[in-house]
Amino acid sequence: MEELLPQCWDDLAATIGAGIDRIILFGPPGTGKTYAALRWQTNERPVERLICTEDLTAADVTGAWLPNGTGGWQWQDGPALRAWRSGGRLVVDEVDRASGDVLSLLLAMADSDGSSQWHHPTTGEVVRPAIGFNVIMTTNLEEMALLPDALRDRFPIAIRINAPHPSAVRSLSDDLKPAAMHGSMGESGRRVSLRKFYAFDQLRRTLGPTRASELLFGAQGGADFIDALRVGAMGRS
Ligand SMILES: Nc1ncnc2c1ncn2[C@@H]1O[C@H](COP(=O)(O)OP(=O)(O)OP(=O)(O)O)[C@@H](O)[C@H]1O
Ligand SMILES: [Mg+2]
Repeated sequence: MEELLPQCWDDLAATIGAGIDRIILFGPPGTGKTYAALRWQTNERPVERLICTEDLTAADVTGAWLPNGTGGWQWQDGPALRAWRSGGRLVVDEVDRASGDVLSLLLAMADSDGSSQWHHPTTGEVVRPAIGFNVIMTTNLEEMALLPDALRDRFPIAIRINAPHPSAVRSLSDDLKPAAMHGSMGESGRRVSLRKFYAFDQLRRTLGPTRASELLFGAQGGADFIDALRVGAMGRS
């Protein structure tokens, strides 16, 4: 049976199609936010990715002088600056984990194109975002109010990705496809991410379904998962 396209994916396609170039994708883990941000409607321009962690530094965002191997130093642009220069897409994953200096820098790099410029710290070069530059941020936060106001203000559209795209389940065995599209288990409503479905499908080939589900969800969770699959209870709650 052909699955309907979940509304969130339609919203995303329409939003990018309408030329909105600052978008946040939020919601539960493993629904395909990063996958879509890296691959879809990129206009055949380069895509740069930044994964925010507490250890990320400003140099990881805009660039740094690095040893060139012959005793000298060479400037290397970071992903945000590369995306500016190419007019491509900057994907900022787990944006809620960015803090301090990096957050300030992200605010500057995601500002409206007309008011953005970056000064090279030593050469004085001034860089502005090329036409086409766009940013997609992803987060597992459910409340956009938890993001700093200034960041939210730069991203007028936040779309909750609450279901996988049908193309994400194509590689799964047929019996898992409907369950993976719905992604929540029986009455508990517990979410099961795409990654778990991929792993289950792979593991059960050699270990069998019971052992595979136990490894993935623990003894009780594994039994619940098999039950939910058997009675088709995925997504009914
Ligand atoms: N449309 C798709 N086609 C094929 N594989 C997909 C698709 N969407 C997602 N996947 C796969 O599903 C897994 C989860 O996707 P992804 O990492 O994009 O999720 P996410 O929503 O960003 O999760 P998190 O919130 O944990 O970062 C990945 O292995 C990814 O390659
Ligand atoms: Mg992700």
